[in-house]
Amino acid sequence: MSQAPALRATALSAFYGRAQVLFDVGLQIAAGEVLALIGRHGAGKSTTLKALIGLTAARGTIQLDGRPLAGLPAYRRARMGLGYVPEERRVFADLTVRENLALGAGRRDFDLAPLMQLFAPLRDLLDRSAGQLSGGEQQMLAVARTLAARPRVLLLDEPSEGMAPLVTAALAAAIAALRAQGTAVLMSEQNLQFVARVADRALLLEHGRVVGSAAPTELLPPSDAVRSVLGL
Ligand SMILES: Nc1ncnc2c1ncn2[C@@H]1O[C@H](COP(=O)(O)OP(=O)(O)O)[C@@H](O)[C@H]1O
Ligand SMILES: [Mg+2]
Repeated sequence: MSQAPALRATALSAFYGRAQVLFDVGLQIAAGEVLALIGRHGAGKSTTLKALIGLTAARGTIQLDGRPLAGLPAYRRARMGLGYVPEERRVFADLTVRENLALGAGRRDFDLAPLMQLFAPLRDLLDRSAGQLSGGEQQMLAVARTLAARPRVLLLDEPSEGMAPLVTAALAAAIAALRAQGTAVLMSEQNLQFVARVADRALLLEHGRVVGSAAPTELLPPSDAVRSVLGL
């Protein structure tokens, strides 16, 4: 029996004003697969994620579990099971960690336990204002808040950027656990060590085009194609 990919996009094109920044980007991710988008600064990684969640207008088709998403506003896509954590960690600084998570879940009586298992350091901080957390704790909270809505597909924009090794390790462990539970993950990343550790494969993005893909073994050490795309 063939199963529809959890997320499938074809021929995505996106523009800022008259400048085209994505050209016919196509990708698909199966349940329980972790795909990384790698490419230089400005290659179009964030724009691809924003096009998928609906924060940037784009041409092309997008399907979540076989259901078309194109044209729907971001909140509808989120409600259908697409989670998105933007590059700038977004937490409500004046609310407690628990309140942030409840907002993500959309209700007060949600199950905290699975989130606390993924992000144990947050357990002792539940009643602290999010604004008092460290950068790493806020990053965990931003991911946990999105997970509280139980997405089937998770989009992460540069999750390891600026994070200390301990936080990066916690994120890697959380992604591995999600993968094992069948969540599909698409993340933009510049950190090849992190990608090699958590991703099943990487798509190479250059000037808004997918120019190839790489297996984790081609990232450490980087193959010629990977070096070229990243300008190494
Ligand atoms: N809001 C915006 N307005 C105009 N141009 C933008 C905007 N956001 C991104 N761009 C441009 O689109 C291109 C792709 O950017 P982006 O998707 O952020 O790349 P990446 O995430 O790979 O660094 C870049 O040339 C960038 O300058
Ligand atoms: Mg970006």
